[in-house]
Amino acid sequence: MLDFKPVEYSQTTLTELMIPSYSNFGGKIHGGIILSLMDKVAYVCAAKHSDGYCITASIDVVDFLAPVEVGELVSLMASVNYVGNTSMIIGIRVVSENLRTHVIKHTNTSYFTMVAIGDDNKPKQVPGLILKSEDDVRRFAQGLNRKNLKTEYKKNEASLRESYNNESCLVTLKNERCKVALTSG
Ligand SMILES: CC(C)(COP(=O)(O)OP(=O)(O)OC[C@H]1O[C@@H](n2cnc3c(N)ncnc32)[C@H](O)[C@@H]1OP(=O)(O)O)[C@@H](O)C(=O)NCCC(=O)NCCS
Repeated sequence: MLDFKPVEYSQTTLTELMIPSYSNFGGKIHGGIILSLMDKVAYVCAAKHSDGYCITASIDVVDFLAPVEVGELVSLMASVNYVGNTSMIIGIRVVSENLRTHVIKHTNTSYFTMVAIGDDNKPKQVPGLILKSEDDVRRFAQGLNRKNLKTEYKKNEASLRESYNNESCLVTLKNERCKVALTSG
């Protein structure tokens, strides 16, 4: 029988020093480096909760709130916010610390949907989540809300694709900064 696990069982923090080879032409840390670390910490957190191999199904919004500098210490804190049947939403908060001044800034928050994969290479059911604090309950409810909104968004996109026609589209684009120059009828 599948068990239930508390949020703290799989909470994971990954800390990494930002070395010069991680920087871009502007001297700041590449967004891709941060994304890769986020994927790593999400994997560890999801694998701990589900006791096994997981894959990244989706990433919901990565806003880069502040640049990360070379020499800063980046910490990524991950916890399971929501579990479905085979999927888990992992909330990740990223902070960056200047080691000389000890100023800490919040640089990213994101939500990774990870799916547990069984030995047969198919999605497998994950343990439920024990919610011990009000934050746990709020995050679970927000995760459910995010999942429902995403389903609505996908339906909306599909119906827009089906109902697409040039005329209604041109009306929508009237005040946008584009020039429509169709080359085929
Ligand atoms: C993610 C993947 C396993 C889903 O497979 P599938 O056959 O669609 O399986 P299901 O429809 O049963 O979905 C499994 C779960 O994933 C969730 N899911 C699938 N795609 C999703 C998406 N884009 N966003 C959020 N959740 C998603 C489903 O809601 C379902 O959750 P639930 O079981 O908790 O209700 C499949 O699309 C896949 O292998 N994708 C490639 C993943 C990958 O290569 N990642 C990068 C490297 S790790």
